[in-house]
Amino acid sequence: MKITIIGTGYVGLVTGACLAELGNDVFCLDVDQSKVDILNNGGIPIHEPGLEDVVARNRAAGRLQFSTDIAASVAHGEIQFIAVGTPPDEDGSADLQYVLAAARNIGRYMDGFKVVVDKSTVPVGTADRVTAAIADELAKRGKSGAGFSVVSNPEFLKEGAAVEDFMRPDRIVIGHDQTPEGQRAYALMKKLYAPFNRNHERTFWMDVRSAEFTKYAANAMLATRISFMNELANLADKVGADIEAVRHGIGSDPRIGHSFLYAGCGYGGSCFPKDVQALERTARDYDQDLLILRAVEQVNDFQKHVLGKKVVKRFGDDLSGKRFAIWGLAFKPNTDDMREASSRVLVDELVRRGATVSVYDPVAMKEAERVLKLDFADDAKLFERISFAANPMAALEGADALAIVTEWKAFRSPDFDRVKAALKNPVIFDGRNLFEPQVMADSGIEYYGIGRSILT
Ligand code: NAD
Ligand code: UGA
Repeated sequence: MKITIIGTGYVGLVTGACLAELGNDVFCLDVDQSKVDILNNGGIPIHEPGLEDVVARNRAAGRLQFSTDIAASVAHGEIQFIAVGTPPDEDGSADLQYVLAAARNIGRYMDGFKVVVDKSTVPVGTADRVTAAIADELAKRGKSGAGFSVVSNPEFLKEGAAVEDFMRPDRIVIGHDQTPEGQRAYALMKKLYAPFNRNHERTFWMDVRSAEFTKYAANAMLATRISFMNELANLADKVGADIEAVRHGIGSDPRIGHSFLYAGCGYGGSCFPKDVQALERTARDYDQDLLILRAVEQVNDFQKHVLGKKVVKRFGDDLSGKRFAIWGLAFKPNTDDMREASSRVLVDELVRRGATVSVYDPVAMKEAERVLKLDFADDAKLFERISFAANPMAALEGADALAIVTEWKAFRSPDFDRVKAALKNPVIFDGRNLFEPQVMADSGIEYYGIGRSILT
């Protein structure tokens, strides 16, 4: 099938590459010329395991192309996926300017029937706005008869596992309407996703608004589980319990399950923070206050400061003359994405309290440097207190303590004798509970996990 993907970021590039892998003829559009140039020169603009190979293979096979040519992109696909960003607006709502700009472009150039797929995460009711934007452009061209239908097909992939998640989805959610155009869209979407449903049916067909809502409900539920565990972890620290033991104890109940119960130094990324806010905002528009989600957000804001608070409790308010090593900068492992990363909050707190920091991340160093420079745009001198280490051990040299923010595999079993030898004090603040408190105690390391105070 001929497919167009509008927006070649995390979701658009993965969707385009994976649909090409299934044999479709895919045209990826982006307004960012530099991204398109990287892709056309054989590179990829993001770090995502396995993606480079899929892109290369399908480009070579002539099934995957990248361009900034809007008219050609609209002409290409009978199915047009909108996968542009929906960042938070000042009031927390999802900013739909990119989605609506993409919709208007479709209306401006389309000739013949199109299925327009909202793949971006968009608030309930957005399909109606996309429909209106396209219809408006068609009317301007005197082409109000040209058929199209807008469907909602939210994406559930996780960064760092995006190709695997896309190729082996738990479920595919598709919302369409019951008009003749909606039925035609249903048939085309069914054909497109048929390869995913071969062994068992994974697609949930529903109305458009329910599909839009499902995406926010999923992210809000996952964020709620994390904040719930983080709040309990903070209490575990006070009462002398181990949140890891508690996690096993409750996760073994199949009604609860083990996933997404890891306490830590807060959730980040481009999705949970913005989607929780956007759902709260939608509720407010309908005169409802989502009390649980408000608390989820507050707990997460607090949690991003928990490592900083532990450092201050141990080393004092004034950290001048102190140096801290930080392992892990990306918001999670296997990505170089720094959006809403907890590391930014910790670096900010330490540096503004007078400390210097030496940071290391296996893949996010370049992106971290770019982002931290912007974070300290108000005072470039503060940015100079950050040094970017070549490897984890180099980051430790002369540091008073180590803080771990991202649970990269490479940090899981370091040589603790070397760690102790490199640090001025054998102190580890572990924001992702990578190590066992007993092992740390036996190694002579002063260890502060999240909710693991039973032995410290
Ligand atoms: P992104 O910022 O990585 O990519 C968006 C791309 O769209 C950019 O390259 C931008 O240049 C391009 N763009 C903007 N306006 C355009 C236009 N009019 N025409 C063509 N291209 C345009 O964003 P992302 O992380 O891929 O997220 C996209 C959407 O998918 C968001 O709504 C997000 O919430 C959702 N989502 C993201 C993830 C994820 O893991 N990142 C997972 C599921 C859903
Ligand atoms: C999340 C969802 O998991 C995806 O299903 C969804 O498609 C995506 O958002 C989206 O809508 O964009 P992602 O943000 O890539 O995916 O990463 P997650 O693995 O969900 O992690 C998000 C944050 O939560 C990370 O900072 C991670 O460290 C934190 N986390 C996760 C915890 O603190 N504890 C956990 O138990 C799990």
